[in-house]
Amino acid sequence: LQKQYFSTELLLWYERSKRDLPWRRSKNPYYIWVSEIMLQQTRVDTVIPYFHRFIEKFPTVAALAAAPESEVLKAWEGLGYYSRARNLQSAVREVHEQYNGIVPSDKAEISELKGVGPYTAGAILSIAYNQPEPAVDGNVMRVLSRYFALEDDIAKPSTRIGIERLAQGLIPAGEAGAFNQALMELGATVCTPRAPQCLTCPVQVHCAGRLAGIAEQLPVKTKA
Ligand code: ADE
Repeated sequence: LQKQYFSTELLLWYERSKRDLPWRRSKNPYYIWVSEIMLQQTRVDTVIPYFHRFIEKFPTVAALAAAPESEVLKAWEGLGYYSRARNLQSAVREVHEQYNGIVPSDKAEISELKGVGPYTAGAILSIAYNQPEPAVDGNVMRVLSRYFALEDDIAKPSTRIGIERLAQGLIPAGEAGAFNQALMELGATVCTPRAPQCLTCPVQVHCAGRLAGIAEQLPVKTKA
């Protein structure tokens, strides 16, 4: 019941309050991929102009595959973590050569691409292909740890795997892309690391962390 409520209310909240972001205007898997790589260590507001320029310069898998690496790094200048750009181009070249430029919709195939970890694979499969795959990043671990009052250490791989299984079970039929983005959006805008905005949260009434008065102390994370 707590789960059903969460999924339904979160999705309704997302549909009425989602931000209009450039990569949400299309289901082009290449656009989704570029946006997810940019968003990994960089804030949404910073990413937006970079995303526009990058897609304008390299509109397709074929265009990015053919570009000199120096041009790609130039377009990335200011975003930092340049290995993201190098890995992206190298994986895009593989998609161009091995898959005729079509981003794989198969979990095993997409997961083999350079720079595509479980989070990115889940994000692309759910958002672009609407497959019922979880996309669990730090935001999502925080939201679910709080809502279900999970006190397991999220630095442990076993905790992450448990949360991925939990997240997968929450996906409403046919709504994987919207639901995963709703989870990210709640973590980014309401269920923030410090001073979460519980009073405006769409799922506050059944949030076990809030009810126990420990929301802000979660998730538990040991230092690496
Ligand atoms: N952070 C990571 N992926 C995102 C997405 N698709 N929308 C907003 N924020 C995100």
